[in-house]
Amino acid sequence: MATLRVNLGKRSYDIVNEPGALARCGQLAAPLLRGKKTFVVTDAHVAPRYGETVLESLRQAGLEPKLLTVPAGEASKSPEMLARLWEQMAAGGVTRSDSVVALGGGVVGDLAGFAAATILRGVDFVQIPTTLLAQVDSSVGGKVAVDLLAGKNLAGSFYQPRLVVMDPDVLESLPDRVFSDGMAEVIKYGCIWDEALFARLEALGSRRAVMAEIAEITTACCDIKRQVVEQDEHDTGLRLLLNFGHTFGHVYEQAYHYETYTHGEAVAAGMVAAARLGEETGRTEAGTAARIAALLERFRLPTEIAASAEDCRRAMNLDKKSLGGDIRFVFLPRIGRAEAVRLPKSDLFGRL
Ligand code: GLY
Repeated sequence: MATLRVNLGKRSYDIVNEPGALARCGQLAAPLLRGKKTFVVTDAHVAPRYGETVLESLRQAGLEPKLLTVPAGEASKSPEMLARLWEQMAAGGVTRSDSVVALGGGVVGDLAGFAAATILRGVDFVQIPTTLLAQVDSSVGGKVAVDLLAGKNLAGSFYQPRLVVMDPDVLESLPDRVFSDGMAEVIKYGCIWDEALFARLEALGSRRAVMAEIAEITTACCDIKRQVVEQDEHDTGLRLLLNFGHTFGHVYEQAYHYETYTHGEAVAAGMVAAARLGEETGRTEAGTAARIAALLERFRLPTEIAASAEDCRRAMNLDKKSLGGDIRFVFLPRIGRAEAVRLPKSDLFGRL
């Protein structure tokens, strides 16, 4: 069993990553939870596939789970859906010793996590991520949020889970595009932190080969995120490095109204654009952008997306990494090493 401990003092927690963990989630979670009532938030795609397995495991462990299902898709990460969950939990008699379990991808994790952070000013929270993206990124580190009309994740909080339960077997059934969405973030970890991980992904080069080693790979990614979050839980310094590729990625997502490209696809092209900009400005070793692009292509991720200077201006003005007219932008001196640089946003506008 691979278990990582995220050390955050009183908010420390384990990430359990092993085949079959989903069916053992009750046994893993029950000792950490104070009350019996557990609100399992999931979506309409995940509920029929894994809902009963999770409910049964929670029941077997003596808990009293109640399933709350939201529609699948980003539109559920809304203040309205958050308010609906609050009402459902209140109607279900939630008390401060009860808990929320997020069963699903990033949307469910962020929404359920924010509901857990805010109902009765906070109840225990368990993450059971079922997509690659959620396993390697959004379920770890405590960022929870909903989207506003003005932009994604604009209302949220830092709220650490009590436990993250990851089951590599659930990744087998992901559609290729959803798997690749997560691979962009996996590749990002290699770019910013671990040249050996990047080289391992180059050697594997396909979904099938990655899946043969998936638990080791997702654990390696979570271990990087663990180290970053332990040093900068509230995103004031080191954690910024996790945003490599995301500044231009957000430009693409917004320019295409979050419809044409997945988050991972936008970040993939954003990483190549950031590496190219680094090479052009002497901050990045020559050849880095081409090496990243070649790896992304193996996982059918885009390496270039068209966007205008106006798209850039609009997206960067909403970016949470903005500091007035400046933005903190992540460059790679080389594969395996990242640095954040404060730049005037206008330096980036014409760069795509
Ligand atoms: N996904 C970036 C972070 O958790 O900080």
